[in-house]
Parts: sequence; C-alpha cells; structure tokens
Amino acid sequence: MFTIGCMLIALNGTLPPIVFTPDEQRRILQHSPVPAPPDDPTNDWDHNAHAARFGQSLFFDAGFSSNGQISCASCHGPMIAFTDGVPLSEGLTIGSRHSPSLLNVSHQRWFFWDGRADTLWSQALHPIESSDEFGSSHNAYVLRLTQTPSYREAYERLFGPLPKMEDRERFPLEAKAGTPAWNAMSSQDQHAVNEAIANCGKAIAAYETQLQSTGSAFDVFAEGLREEDPQKLAALTHSAQRGLKLFVGDAGCRQCHSGPLFTDFEFHNIGIPTGHGGPPRDSGRHGGIAHVQTSPFSAHGPFSDESSGRRARRTRSTIQSPEHWGAFKTPSLRNLTRTAPYMHQGQFSSIEDVLEYYNTLEDMVVQDHHQEAVLLPLDLDESQLEDLAAFLRALESPLPDAALLSVPTSPLLDDSAPLHVAPSPPAEPSEP
Ligand code: HEC
Ligand code: HEC
Repeated sequence: MFTIGCMLIALNGTLPPIVFTPDEQRRILQHSPVPAPPDDPTNDWDHNAHAARFGQSLFFDAGFSSNGQISCASCHGPMIAFTDGVPLSEGLTIGSRHSPSLLNVSHQRWFFWDGRADTLWSQALHPIESSDEFGSSHNAYVLRLTQTPSYREAYERLFGPLPKMEDRERFPLEAKAGTPAWNAMSSQDQHAVNEAIANCGKAIAAYETQLQSTGSAFDVFAEGLREEDPQKLAALTHSAQRGLKLFVGDAGCRQCHSGPLFTDFEFHNIGIPTGHGGPPRDSGRHGGIAHVQTSPFSAHGPFSDESSGRRARRTRSTIQSPEHWGAFKTPSLRNLTRTAPYMHQGQFSSIEDVLEYYNTLEDMVVQDHHQEAVLLPLDLDESQLEDLAAFLRALESPLPDAALLSVPTSPLLDDSAPLHVAPSPPAEPSEP
C-alpha cells in the first residue's frame, strides 16, 4: 500500500537521522488520522444538531442531581479533556473508579472501564440513579424536564409529548429501577419514563459525538510520512520519533493500544496494583458483561433504534469467562497530557510512573492462572523511557470548538435550522 521505502528523516540539525522501515511506516500510519465519528444505528439522533444542543444543556446542568450541585461536567471537565484530575471521582460520595476522557468517545464499542454499557446513549443514564453520582431517579429527571419550560419545549419538539409526570402517585420520585416503588408502577408508565430518559441519553450522546479531537503533532508527522513532506515530519522531535519506533516495535504497546484511538476497544488484565493496596475487589469486565446483557437499555432492548443490528448481536453473543475477572478496557492514549492520573483507579500520577510500571512490572497483581500473560518487563534504559514519554506527549490535540465546552445559551437551536422529525414519536401510552 505504501511504497515510501526507507526514508531518511534528518531534521534536527546534525543529529543522526531516524530511519523507519516500510513495516514501521505501515504500522505508524494505522494510528492516524482519527476518522469522523461513526454512526450509531441504535441512536437515530446521534448526528442531529438539535438533539446535540439539547444534550449539551443537560450535560452541564447540575439541577438534575439530588443536591443540585453535580452535573456530568463536574467529573468530565471540558478544559482537562472531560476528566476530573483526581484518582477516584467524587459526586455525592467518592466512587470506586477514575473518570475517563470523553474526547473521541463516540468511537468506543463499550463504555465504562468494564464495558457495562454497549451504547453511548445508554451510558448517560447510569449516573442519574447512581448513589455516588447524581443520586436521583429517572422519574425525578423527567419531572424536571416537564417543569422547565425551555427543556420541555426542546424535548417535545424533538421527541414528542412527555409523560404526565405531575401525577406523583403514578410517578413517585423515589422510584428507582429495582425498588418496590418502581415495581409498583404500571408497565405503561414505566415504559413512558424509560422512553423519555432514553431520549435524553440519545441527546446527550449526540452532544458527546461532537467531542472529536485530532490533529496532534503525531498526526502531522503521520501526514508527513504519507506525503513525504519534511516540514510535517519535523512536527515530532527526534526523541518522540525514537519513542514512536519503540511504541510500534519492541515495546509491544500497539498489541493493545492499536488504531487511530490507540486502543483495541477490548479488555485486558495488566495487573495494575490496586489503589488501596489490598487484593483487587473490582471484577472489571466480568461484572460488566452480566450488567450489559440484562439492562433494559441495551442495544438489543426496546429503546434501541436498531435492536437486531450488529451492536445488539455483539452484546448478545458476549460470553462471560473467568479471564474477564479484573480486566479493564484499554484506554485511548490521545491527550494523556490532560488526563492524569491514569488507570481505572487513577493509580499512577504521571506518564513516567505508567512507563516505570511497564518497564519493571513491579508489584504486578497476578490473580490466578486465568490471567492473560502478555506483559513482560520492558527493561528499557532512562533515555528510552524519556523517548517513549516524549512520543506519548505528542498525542495531545486541540480541544473541540469552544462552543462545545460550556453550557449553551439555550437548549434549542434557532428556528432556521432544520428539525429532524422523530421516526415514530413516542405515544403517551396512558392517555385515555
Ligand atoms: C461523580 C462523577 C461523575 C459524574 C457526575 C458523571 N461521570 Fe461519567 N464517568 C465517571 C467515572 C468515574 C467513569 C468510569 C466509571 C466506570 O468505569 O465504572 C465515567 C464514565 C463515563 C463514560 C464512559 C467513557 C468510556 O470511554 O468508557 C461516559 C461516556 C461518561 N462517563 C459520560 C457521563 C455523562 C453523560 C454524565 C452525566 C449524565 C456523567 N458521565 C456523569 C464519573 C462521572
Ligand atoms: C495487554 C494489553 C496492553 C499492552 C501490551 C499495553 N497496554 Fe497500556 N493499557 C492497557 C490496559 C488494559 C490499560 C488500563 C488498565 C487498568 O486501568 O487496569 C492500559 C493503560 C495504559 C495507560 C494509562 C492511560 C489512561 O488514560 O489511564 C497508558 C499511558 C498506557 N497504557 C501506555 C502503554 C504503553 C506505552 C505500552 C507499551 C509499553 C502499553 N500501554 C502496553 C493495555 C495494554
């Protein structure tokens, strides 16, 4: 495919040039550029600008949490690549995992460190009832929509009428999935609330789909390789180029951190010592699989816009096995400069600490014989570790458009923008 041959890249004055073999070049080009956001057929609204604007308003609104202080942005702060900078996120209480970046999140196949959501829109529903995060209920969320005129208008223009939430006997605020109060609701009312909340998730996902970030120094370098353009090749320092060579070569990182997002979108147990020092208690992917298959909001469930498509089949066919215990999703390596600390519990505070772990595997937790055995200590010297770190730092790219980084002035776009009409607007099931 690429016939550039062994190019000599002599850019930093008198330093010896870094040579990339054709095979290395082919591997490097697999990491760039980041493609446009993919379609999610389970969400008819994923590329709809109106829905995205409504979703952006919901994302930044703390009024949906039980103490009025927590919004999605509390733990996904736009200026730090939609993370929160602490090891374990804090909502109403301190949770058990680290907040991942939302940049380029629409490319993911599974969501959360354990993949317990199979679509971006269903992920957005979890924080609402979680006692660590919003500590609210779907009923309370939808009630607030009906009571806030700008939300009500935006929602009903997009998705059709909201349920009659004012009737507290039918829609008690304390009713969360699995509680007696929820179970006592009629199945029609449960369906109406689930449908409304799923639509909110779809709008939030439409917003998150716009959080693309590409154009790092590494991407400019990759373009330079494609176009044989020495100026673009100069975007990476010699040290970062040596780090890149290690990354796609001897260090073996691309085995899991593959493709433009630097992730295989899969789950591995790489034995990171727990943040609390004791034995691991977090089952990771093992628990995630059980959850995603039984969630009413899964890709194969009644609120999916394509319940028999590829995503749905993938969820159905995933089989839990012992090697999933303690496995976590391979994170993207883009924008690490903004997303410290690292790993599922924020165990490492710097890129250097992460590399030190891969270099020595010191304190690696080996649970049992089911664990994937892929990592060996790298045994790199100090200057090689610096090179690898320089390469990882060169994966920083500009933040998305400033208009996406804060609460919009209104949940509605102006009237001139075309309004997508819902394929089948939700009916009010309990209307006489
Ligand atoms: C209290 C902090 C907190 C709040 C509030 C919060 N999140 Fe998160 N978010 C996290 C943490 C921590 C994780 C990882 C949790 C896990 O894997 O179990 C996460 C995971 C995610 C993911 C998965 C990313 C991936 O690559 O797998 C998305 C998307 C996301 N959150 C969006 C949202 C949205 C949308 C909201 C608001 C509805 C929200 N978050 C509210 C802390 C928070
Ligand atoms: C066997 C698959 C695998 C290999 C090989 C691998 N990684 Fe990872 N990497 C992961 C997984 C899985 C995580 C998350 C682990 C966790 O949180 O428990 C991770 C986490 C990271 C993180 C933290 C990112 C964040 O946002 O938290 C960095 C940085 C990283 N890896 C860099 C590398 C580098 C550099 C190499 C090569 C030296 C490498 N990895 C090799 C699977 C792998």
